Amino acid sequence: MSNKNYELILRNCRLLQATHKTEIVDIAIDDSKIAAISPDIPAFADQELDLQEKLVTPPFVESHIHLDSALTAGEPRWNQSGTLFEGIEIWGNRKQKLTIEDVKKRAIEILKLQAQKGVLFSRTHVDVSEPTLTALQALLEVKETVKNWMNLQIVAFPQDGIYSQHENLPLLETALQLGVDAVGGIPHYEFTREDGVKSVHQIFELAEKYDCSIDIHCDEIDDDQSRFLEVVAACAIRTGLSNRVTASHTTAFASYNNAYAEKLMSLLEKSKINFIANPLINITLQGRTDIYPKRRGVTRVKELWQRGLNVSFGHDCILDPWYSLGTGSMLDVAYMGVHICQMTGMTEIDACYQMITSNGARTLNLADRYGIVVGKPANLIVVEADSCFDAIRKRSTIKYVFNHGKLLAETTPAKIKFSSFG
Ligand code: FE2
Repeated sequence: MSNKNYELILRNCRLLQATHKTEIVDIAIDDSKIAAISPDIPAFADQELDLQEKLVTPPFVESHIHLDSALTAGEPRWNQSGTLFEGIEIWGNRKQKLTIEDVKKRAIEILKLQAQKGVLFSRTHVDVSEPTLTALQALLEVKETVKNWMNLQIVAFPQDGIYSQHENLPLLETALQLGVDAVGGIPHYEFTREDGVKSVHQIFELAEKYDCSIDIHCDEIDDDQSRFLEVVAACAIRTGLSNRVTASHTTAFASYNNAYAEKLMSLLEKSKINFIANPLINITLQGRTDIYPKRRGVTRVKELWQRGLNVSFGHDCILDPWYSLGTGSMLDVAYMGVHICQMTGMTEIDACYQMITSNGARTLNLADRYGIVVGKPANLIVVEADSCFDAIRKRSTIKYVFNHGKLLAETTPAKIKFSSFG
């Protein structure tokens, strides 16, 4: 008779609890699921791994990335002004040269980079303003190709606006018919305020018609009169779509006067929509028309979080016309978020870790498959750290990435050897 009980036991895990405390436990994995969690599992397994009290958490969630434009920085030219609008112009040229193979190659390279850094869930926006829908077709293929190791959601994003050209609305609807997870928009980029409001209403109609989520690039501008967030929140309340709705960026919120911001906050609380801030990108894109003082350009993350609204952080761009840097690391994103949003209190730093894990999972509606809980898929990461604070401070190496109970990626931390201090 065999003594085998489990396929794998991870010993001495410093498991992050919902309370943000950690405790040392063993985690047993069987049939790709979490089979047991206990301070000492008295059983044998095909394989055991001693994690030596390293931090174990659910995987990172990349809630906002643009895979179609990633790795194109400098093509056909560099963004000299560093603004969103010059970025859109450069992308407008680059996207004329897209091929399915080009998009697939770059997207898979980024997804592998993300996975190696602990991301197993990713939501990408894809530009559907381009008549052949090449990028969308490519990313639908990519979603199928990577499905065993990356849960990829696709947002149909009308980068050039829904009403700027007659064909854009039919293109958006075709994209939804091809089977995306969410419909997007860019109301602040429409020709007029009226077109922007109309675009938000149109997005909600499409979401109801095609039963999909909503994730809108909303008020990504320093204009304190850009006020489409209130329209999104009102539509979310009236349609009842609430937590299936996400407002991404909302950078103008940082420029609103406080009297209006306070009124808006109450509406947002009622709406229960999700927010995604992208600190790496918006600290560089925004404030470009300011002399001094210069605005930070990132939405009111701390205040939204304090009001109990769901906020996550996204990387947004990696080496593209809007952001010429980026490593794919969600710890880099959280690290920047801590600084720009002044989330430096200990509970605030812990909250920033939630913004790249469980909060992102909530935005992506992953409740049934996310979290280190008995019975759920065994998706987890082992971080070279002893707390969330430590992980963000050091932007620690992700030592192991487990996907459905199997080791997907292993990274050995760099070792430094001093010869002499002279
Ligand atoms: Fe974006």
